[in-house]
Amino acid sequence: MKKVIVTGGNGQLGQAIRQIASHFPQIEFIFTTQIDLNITSKENVDTFFNLNQCDYVINCAAYTAVDKAESEPEIAQRINDDAVQFIAQKTKEIGCKLIHISTDYVFDGLQAIPRTEEDPTNPINVYGLTKFQGELKALAYNPNTLIIRTSWVYSRYGNNFVKTMMRLFNEKESLDIIDDQIGSPTNAIDLAAAIADIVISDHFQPGIMNYSNEGQCSWFDFAQEIKRLTNAPVQLNPIPTTAYPTPAKRPAYSLLNKSKIKQAYGLKIPDWKTSLAAEIKAMQS
Ligand SMILES: NC(=O)c1ccc[n+]([C@@H]2O[C@H](COP(=O)([O-])OP(=O)(O)OC[C@H]3O[C@@H](n4cnc5c(N)ncnc54)[C@H](OP(=O)(O)O)[C@@H]3O)[C@@H](O)[C@H]2O)c1
Repeated sequence: MKKVIVTGGNGQLGQAIRQIASHFPQIEFIFTTQIDLNITSKENVDTFFNLNQCDYVINCAAYTAVDKAESEPEIAQRINDDAVQFIAQKTKEIGCKLIHISTDYVFDGLQAIPRTEEDPTNPINVYGLTKFQGELKALAYNPNTLIIRTSWVYSRYGNNFVKTMMRLFNEKESLDIIDDQIGSPTNAIDLAAAIADIVISDHFQPGIMNYSNEGQCSWFDFAQEIKRLTNAPVQLNPIPTTAYPTPAKRPAYSLLNKSKIKQAYGLKIPDWKTSLAAEIKAMQS
């Protein structure tokens, strides 16, 4: 039986892990929220892990408001960077492995080739920079760290593109959607199951690995597929990024190459359209 502590247990990924937990009886999950475990408090982190030993920590806690981070860089840094150091230090001290979740936004997106784990990083917004700094801290302070970089996460939980689109489809007759940012959506349930598979695999490999669903799309393609699956009568218009200015810049191309994680853990990753259909079905039932 592996004992696994999950931070950010009420976030999208945290709730997705709760959802799949019963399929993994070999794992005892303990879910924490900011109330039990505020990762930005070193005292809180140290005390919590003195009282709760475990085999793995899955750090799903993060500051994820990409645009807001531009005006709150210190808060983003405390959660995405400083706090990761506290967790990495403490997990190393208690002999526990760390699975830390990161993002495709560590890349600048200037090259239209799927990004490998070895490709040079160059974050172009505050969120991406703080997440990149957190990766460095995790790897430096706990050598038994696996960083999983993921992208465009959605689920039935929390706020995400799929839920926003489904809400707007009910409110608007027509929507403009960006068509020149390319990436791959990630169903949080698929990512949660992949993380659990890694935990039970018994051949944990530290380092950095990418995970998203297979295939690629633009936000416009993603919205079109949501529209098709929900039979929404809305009209969708493709627009360039330049027509929709946001406080944070986003990478134009951030497709992740998943060869490493598939090879290391024998994972079969579903195509994004298949997973989207399954999640929308779950949302509608
Ligand atoms: N969402 C995406 O599209 C996306 C894309 C790429 C990578 N990622 C990464 O994937 C991971 C999971 O993302 P997500 O979508 O599940 O994020 P999320 O839904 O925003 O959840 C983040 C969680 O972190 C918690 N948290 C914030 N500050 C905390 C603190 N000081 N102590 C403890 N918990 C704290 C939040 O708690 P409250 O609810 O109480 O605020 C929330 O439950 C993150 O590392 C994120 O960077 C996400």
